[in-house]
Amino acid sequence: MTDPLFDVSGRVAIVTGGLGQLGSVYAAGLAERGMRVAVFDIVAGSPAEGVRSYEVDITDRAALEEAEQAVERDLGVPHLLVNNAGLDSPPDAPAEEVGPFETYPEESFDAVMDVNVKGTLLSCQVVGGAMAREGRGSIVNISSIYGLLSPVQDLYAFRRDRGETFVKPVAYSVSKSAVLNLTRYLATYWAKSGVRVNTLTLAGVFDEQPREFLDAYEARVPLGRMLDAREALGAVVFLASDASSYVTGANLVVDGGWSAW
Ligand SMILES: NC(=O)c1ccc[n+]([C@@H]2O[C@H](COP(=O)([O-])OP(=O)(O)OC[C@H]3O[C@@H](n4cnc5c(N)ncnc54)[C@H](O)[C@@H]3O)[C@@H](O)[C@H]2O)c1
Repeated sequence: MTDPLFDVSGRVAIVTGGLGQLGSVYAAGLAERGMRVAVFDIVAGSPAEGVRSYEVDITDRAALEEAEQAVERDLGVPHLLVNNAGLDSPPDAPAEEVGPFETYPEESFDAVMDVNVKGTLLSCQVVGGAMAREGRGSIVNISSIYGLLSPVQDLYAFRRDRGETFVKPVAYSVSKSAVLNLTRYLATYWAKSGVRVNTLTLAGVFDEQPREFLDAYEARVPLGRMLDAREALGAVVFLASDASSYVTGANLVVDGGWSAW
């Protein structure tokens, strides 16, 4: 029996970056719960079963409008937007991107801000706008503990010990902080239109990271482990459902206690 508080079946969801590590878990998990799910991703790929994929660059407003119209035709007007697409510096990023702050490249800053901030804003304009016209909806903006607090550079000491240059770059943190106040802005702007807007702040997700990193990371988390992607899904379902009907403008922190000490 489905608990009506958490029942999202029959509703329409859009997950941006829905072919990535976390987005694919959200898309599959929401589809399993009866949602009609669309993913917007810049790459073409096979989404989870029962999920429709649309190739969209979220920094391109015209492409977003076209895809949103297609979702309305194919599935209906969206009830949920998960702004999950994002850029971080991959472990194999070019040396200057993970080098000292003083020489962090402007182009890298622009690229990260373009997707993480402008892309999220445009997705809210286009998809959130459609929801507001319907008088209902929920937007979940994904942030990170690195948007709430500074990265702990010591976690990457093992790379420096190996002789590599590695500084966790600044743009990701700045972009993820911006998401927090975009959320608050829109929560108040759309409150009377029935669209709730919240941030979901996540800690690092387990992804077979090197043992030295895991040891350093786990020692800093009260729960003693990294996040499992399914635990992030639980928070998305809560924010999508009527269980969170009085929650707007909030920041739901799912970090194993990282920010508690
Ligand atoms: N993985 C973590 O440890 C972690 C921790 C905290 C927060 N987050 C956040 O969760 C979200 C997802 O992270 P992930 O680890 O699954 O990343 P990922 O790289 O696996 O997935 C990101 C997806 O976004 C897509 N994307 C990138 N640019 C796009 C664009 N312009 N238009 C459309 N799609 C685009 C990519 O193709 C990819 O499928 C991000 O916002 C990230 O910042 C992740």
